[in-house]
Amino acid sequence: MKIEYLESEKLFRLASGDMEYVIGVVDGIYVGHVYYGKKMGDGRCGYFLRTGEAPFVPSVNWREKCSFADAFPWEYSTWGMGDYRDSCLNVRDPEGFRGCELHYEGYRILEGKPEISGMPATFCRDGEGGGGMTLELTCRDKVLGLKAILRYSIFADSEAVMRSVELVNEGHGVLYLERALTACLDMDMEEGDLLTLGGSWSRERHMVRRPLAMGKQLVSSFRGESGHQDHPFLAVMGKGAGQDQGEVYAMHFVYSGNFVAEAEVNQFGSLRLLMGINPEGFEWVLNPGESFATPEVVCVYSDEGLGKMTHILHDLYRGHLIRSPYLHRRRPVLINNWEATYFDFNTEKLLEIAREASKRGIEMLVMDDGWFQGRHTDSGSLGDWNVDENKLKGGLPYLVGEVQKLGMGFGIWFEPEMVSPDSDLYRAHPDWAIQIPGREPVQSRAQYVLDLSRPEVVDYVYEAVASVLRSAPVSYVKWDMNRQMTDVGSTYLGKGRQGELFHRYVLGLYSLQERLTREFPELLLENCASGGARFDPGMLYYSPQVWCSDNTDAIERLAIQEGTALLYPLSAMGAHVSACPNHVVGRITPFATRGHVAMAGAFGYELDITKLPEGEKRLIERQVETYHELYPLMLEGDYYRIASWAENHKYDCWQVVAKDKSEALVTYVQVLAEPNCHSRKIRLKGLDPEAEYQQEDNGQRYKGALLMYGGVLMPRMEGDFASAMIRFIQIG
Ligand code: DGJ
Repeated sequence: MKIEYLESEKLFRLASGDMEYVIGVVDGIYVGHVYYGKKMGDGRCGYFLRTGEAPFVPSVNWREKCSFADAFPWEYSTWGMGDYRDSCLNVRDPEGFRGCELHYEGYRILEGKPEISGMPATFCRDGEGGGGMTLELTCRDKVLGLKAILRYSIFADSEAVMRSVELVNEGHGVLYLERALTACLDMDMEEGDLLTLGGSWSRERHMVRRPLAMGKQLVSSFRGESGHQDHPFLAVMGKGAGQDQGEVYAMHFVYSGNFVAEAEVNQFGSLRLLMGINPEGFEWVLNPGESFATPEVVCVYSDEGLGKMTHILHDLYRGHLIRSPYLHRRRPVLINNWEATYFDFNTEKLLEIAREASKRGIEMLVMDDGWFQGRHTDSGSLGDWNVDENKLKGGLPYLVGEVQKLGMGFGIWFEPEMVSPDSDLYRAHPDWAIQIPGREPVQSRAQYVLDLSRPEVVDYVYEAVASVLRSAPVSYVKWDMNRQMTDVGSTYLGKGRQGELFHRYVLGLYSLQERLTREFPELLLENCASGGARFDPGMLYYSPQVWCSDNTDAIERLAIQEGTALLYPLSAMGAHVSACPNHVVGRITPFATRGHVAMAGAFGYELDITKLPEGEKRLIERQVETYHELYPLMLEGDYYRIASWAENHKYDCWQVVAKDKSEALVTYVQVLAEPNCHSRKIRLKGLDPEAEYQQEDNGQRYKGALLMYGGVLMPRMEGDFASAMIRFIQIG
């Protein structure tokens, strides 16, 4: 890992592993993007900035400064001064004039990585490879009195580049930030594809690949959360790039609110990637002396297709983003009562489930929605977090005590950010809900969103959650969020500051989860948002796992988990076995397949175990044992995508390999049975080619090279939706 300034070339060079990122300054003031890619080890690459070609640089050809601005590969593009592509920064001055141009002033190279105050971000971790370095480039717009510090960080054990920006008003007048994105990446890529993740409720994070084309293509959210529909990620894939080959440039946003991720191909065939807070509905008032920090963008370059990008992100998030003590700990196998009972439960019903579950090896009972006063359906009581003692006779301490006597832990569901119109909280504080005065607030799932820009609301919400957790030994919290924002107004922020609400809301959310994880450091926190609507790197900083989707059907989960595992370690994906017919799609799949698919994540059950036939209860016992055996591999191993059902419409297959290559697990889902076919040959990945491996179920031996370059035969299985999980152990 190295960050250096090459004086003779006037270039900054960041290098880690096989990656290099180069920045140049032309005319002494314009900060340009020179190179990002495979390490070249030759700093004489400033010519990539094309300063010797028309329109040249402004010092040589002042009369064509506009053409320069519109073609130059900016490191941090600004609005209104000649660059007509979409930009990172747009500022309005007190007189209402818009326009911004940042000039380079100086740099610092720091050991380590500064925090981004109040926001999640990657961090240096003590120990081998955990150290990092940061380059700070200070730029200024003298007319506005605005200072911008562009930060680039790298870690010794990662090839990712982390970017963020701090904007400081050092002038005398108030400034209005109309756009404050985090990063742009200008590059020469004339042909390729754009890859994004998208979908809907119960269909989150499906991979969407389309050709790059002239103009702008973007995904975004202005729903107040990262959302089911789009994901704060994009990648461009060079021509011919695929799972294991070709160039990929990716950007991933460490943020949980509105975002934009955009690719623009301009008139010269150059490509600009942009990522940051969505400017839609955003305006930040920056008074003299104040600063604004953008959330972090993680950039990844891979010269070995999506697979290497995935490995870089998984290792980065495990090594430098997830803080929970559960990061390397086995998560308890849990049973959640949501699909088992919905709102119709009481202490006795929960204990019945717990008794049966504990007999089968399940280690935690999670009580989902419906435990607090007045909550008999989803139409009321959010905000009134008092245990309903009619349902839970003896209160929470009794229930938790009884569950603990069974040797199980206890978890509880909250939806802290919400308030129901039919609640004591709303009746007492109608102004605490996000709303536009004079308009009837828009309901969604019969609820409103609390205004987390308001400090007293944040305090109330915190105490509501914390006092329940203080009242009984609860070891897990599922933090849910079941609606997106509309009529985004705050009676607290007042006139002129409404454009800050979306971002201030996210800051309020982060402060809540920060307080919670500090007061309850041993708590296993799982974030959730109406399924997987807030599965993003920001949430991962607070919770080591996030609920992937309300769709627990094993076949539907294939595409959801493929898209999710493209970016996130398997240990981060909440995945449960549920009852059939599946509650979302009505499909019936084998119990074993449901187990195989859920075992690719933080594993658990979501069904009424008391109603299962004995045969399925026995399968649960075996699945729990298997999960115990496999968890070190699933938690720490390298994930490989072998085949994608979403792509081939035939079968799905993934593999996890131990870091030391001592074992590998292949999960294969046949999906539909086909007549008159022979076995299917699958090529494994990531093994030691010289080592000897043994297939666990039949004792057959292979050299790693044989498994990888030749393959292994997957026998055809009878029936639809059949699957297999096969382990290969290194024996020599
Ligand atoms: C949405 C979640 O995704 C579900 O798992 C469940 O907790 C419900 N909310 C409860 O309202």
